[in-house]
Amino acid sequence: MSNTFNHKTDTSPIIYQIRIKGHLGNPWKEWFAGLNITLEDNGDTLLTGALIDQAALHGLLRKIRDLGLPLLSVIRVNPNLKGLSEHGLNDDLSLNKSCYLENEIAKIFLKQTRKDTKMKAIICTKYGSPDVLQLNEVEKPTPKDNEVLIRVHAASVTAADGMMRKGTPFIGRFFVGLMKPKNPIPGAGFAGEIEGVGKDVKLFKAGDQVFGESTSTFGTYAEFLCLPEDGLLLTKPSNMIYEEAACVCDGPITSLNFLSDVTKTQRGQSVLINAASGSLGTAAVQLAKHFGVEVTGVCSTTNLAMVKSLGADKVIDYTTINFTKTGHTYDIIFDTIGKSSFSHCKGALTQKGIYLSPVLNLPLLLLMIWTSKIGSKKAKFSATGLRPVAELRILLKELKVLIEAGKIKLVIDRCYPLEQTAEAHSYVEKGHKKGNVVITME
Ligand SMILES: NC(=O)c1ccc[n+]([C@@H]2O[C@H](COP(=O)([O-])OP(=O)(O)OC[C@H]3O[C@@H](n4cnc5c(N)ncnc54)[C@H](OP(=O)(O)O)[C@@H]3O)[C@@H](O)[C@H]2O)c1
Repeated sequence: MSNTFNHKTDTSPIIYQIRIKGHLGNPWKEWFAGLNITLEDNGDTLLTGALIDQAALHGLLRKIRDLGLPLLSVIRVNPNLKGLSEHGLNDDLSLNKSCYLENEIAKIFLKQTRKDTKMKAIICTKYGSPDVLQLNEVEKPTPKDNEVLIRVHAASVTAADGMMRKGTPFIGRFFVGLMKPKNPIPGAGFAGEIEGVGKDVKLFKAGDQVFGESTSTFGTYAEFLCLPEDGLLLTKPSNMIYEEAACVCDGPITSLNFLSDVTKTQRGQSVLINAASGSLGTAAVQLAKHFGVEVTGVCSTTNLAMVKSLGADKVIDYTTINFTKTGHTYDIIFDTIGKSSFSHCKGALTQKGIYLSPVLNLPLLLLMIWTSKIGSKKAKFSATGLRPVAELRILLKELKVLIEAGKIKLVIDRCYPLEQTAEAHSYVEKGHKKGNVVITME
């Protein structure tokens, strides 16, 4: 870009001052190498410099637009030249032809980039049924110095998202907002592309394809999202599309947490996965196989073939057989939807067997405490999303390796456009999804 700026021209150079919302990150500074860059205290960036002609101004404004930088104003600062007012763009048609043309060019770009300061998002201002999820236009976020701006391509719709939307169980509201959601934009799992970075960001650059979870800040049901660079995000596995990558922080990360951290699954053990066709279940079957255990998947008739194809050694059709009454015992029973209980499964556990459930209720809590002290069979729960981000990032890195090695595949049931997020929630709430459901941005 530097050759478009004229510092030492014989014809009077025109000096412009271009104001952009947000501080320019380091990777973008090279695009504006010929300009003086000032990072203002109010959070704006000022680009000041001489431009040879309208083509140079045009090129610069197009670059600002293409980089997705929110353009606030374009001001000509030469005291002896008129054209663009000091307060922004004006409509003074008495200007000479060339100044008028510049004015028009700048206005078009300002209009285009002003539009870019807004984004489509799903807003949820109260707890309730799926119709509390409303499509709206809101202010596009601006990354802080340590943050990246992500253009979201896909966001997961999970069973947990439905609980956040309803505000149930009530105890969860102490984390997400007592009377209404703290962040009105829901959604946690995402995949997308880095659009811009804050000035201190070192780990990512514009154009990186990333995936992860926004954890407790939510906000992924939107076209753009800001996250700290040390948040739960990594570059996307090369062999995954955005829709698949958006769901890795639901079933796969939770099942990995349960099968490798909550209990250390050992080669040669036998593991039963209940609801092997859900988000956690489809991931758990593949992870358990990877750990070298014998896997029995429990699902309905229609999902038997799918669960087998994921690697389950045996499948049980829950519509005809009660897995707790077959006479078989398992070292681990991972009830991924928490529809059974430790008491029901106890007889189907080996002597030191472990019952795992990702769904906490009072009986399970009491049994966890009880079995941690008494008896050889244990009941265990973990709230994966409440683990420190640094620990979750280790799990996500492990998953990325497994995904790139072809060991874990994401099962995608349905994709919905952002406008149909309420429908996506209604579908997930029925409790019969196969694997994962995704929101895609156009
Ligand atoms: N603690 C944590 O860290 C954590 C993290 C994430 C999620 N969770 C929780 O984990 C739970 C599971 O989430 P998920 O997304 O995996 O669930 P999900 O995908 O919504 O589960 C749906 C699947 O369950 C199957 N299913 C329904 N009833 C069944 C039954 N009686 N027996 C066997 N399978 C049955 C369905 O198959 P059919 O259609 O054939 O019935 C369907 O494929 C949710 O409660 C979620 O909130 C906890």
